[in-house]
Amino acid sequence: MSERLPPLSDIPADLVCAADYQRYAAQHMSANARAYIDTAAADGLSHAANLAAYARWQLAPRVLADVAGGHCRLSLFGLELSHPLLLAPVAYQKLVHADGERAAAYAASQLGSSMVVSTLASTTLEDIAAVSQSPQWFQLYLQHDRAFSADLVHRAEAAGYCALVLTVDAPLAGVRNGEQRAGFSLPPGVFAANLAAMAPYQPQLAAGQSMVFDGLMTFAPRWDDIAWLRSMTRLPILLKGVLSPEDARLALQHGVDGLIVSNHGGRTLDGVPASLDALPRIADAVAGSMPLLLDGGIRRGSDILKALALGARAVLIGRPYLHALATAGALGVAHLLRVLQEELEVAMALSGCRTLDDISPQLLWPR
Ligand code: FNR
Ligand code: LAC
Repeated sequence: MSERLPPLSDIPADLVCAADYQRYAAQHMSANARAYIDTAAADGLSHAANLAAYARWQLAPRVLADVAGGHCRLSLFGLELSHPLLLAPVAYQKLVHADGERAAAYAASQLGSSMVVSTLASTTLEDIAAVSQSPQWFQLYLQHDRAFSADLVHRAEAAGYCALVLTVDAPLAGVRNGEQRAGFSLPPGVFAANLAAMAPYQPQLAAGQSMVFDGLMTFAPRWDDIAWLRSMTRLPILLKGVLSPEDARLALQHGVDGLIVSNHGGRTLDGVPASLDALPRIADAVAGSMPLLLDGGIRRGSDILKALALGARAVLIGRPYLHALATAGALGVAHLLRVLQEELEVAMALSGCRTLDDISPQLLWPR
């Protein structure tokens, strides 16, 4: 493992935006952690598409508007947010910082944001809830053991989580050549804390059977699991990882409450479009019947503005806050959130938007 500098305890003057955190984080993460966090699937086409998508839209600002007293607050499925920016579910955060998820969740709650807690967190969902000063959502990966999955939902309810995010685009990991080349493995002490009591999946494959179709996909979530989940909890249910307008319509029919338009940061199926490019067709399909969120490639306040103009109610960031966590722990995550909120406020004010309700497709330069 390569040299890794300890986390900083204050923020250097030249660290002023999300890209700067990526640069700094390279020195504060092990090669092993970098292989996991910065890798995308296969050739990285979809991750690159996410990063490139925002620059292809330009803003059409209005001047001389009265935006005094403006803000970017919103309420969303039990969260009272200062801005439309959440921390996406990211597994195994102790890979980059000893305080892992607790530091990120605490920072988010202090900055009027919230972290979506991963099933694969390296801290238990109860311990994360205990440090957060405000409610959170729980991201569910259905397990081969459905009774254990139901228990996870009940644990999340008991710990005060106020929505469930069922991730549907990753029943198996993508082709992670970057991890393979680096020989990535979880170091001692970093494990899926919420799943510690579950017997691991033991595939029983006959000769000639496929690990994919006869193994992992036999317990992948399907539409009838949505009905099962719906019957089991009163929490709002969001699906994360939807790119197809047809699936968005099916989600509505199945009583789903919201969608996260996402390609999983380009980590699952490589070759799909940027989440931002998938958003308009999904917004058309649901026609305002449910809130849409989006993640993938958000690095600037103006990216948030563009996503909202194309139909998102809020967005999430993944890798950028892991870079901030690696660089300066909770302080880094809090600083990054403040920077992005300020960038969003600047972009809103300079384009004539007083509140999030003023953001519409009119804000985008026709192309
Ligand atoms: C993820 N993501 C993810 N998603 C999920 O639903 N459950 C999970 O446990 C994880 N774990 C995870 C680990 C790491 C290291 C990364 C980078 C991502 C996907 C994540 O929620 C989100 O969709 C993307 O990270 C968004 O893209 P950006 O912001 O990283 O470009
Ligand atoms: C990942 C899984 C954990 O993207 O969602 O690594």
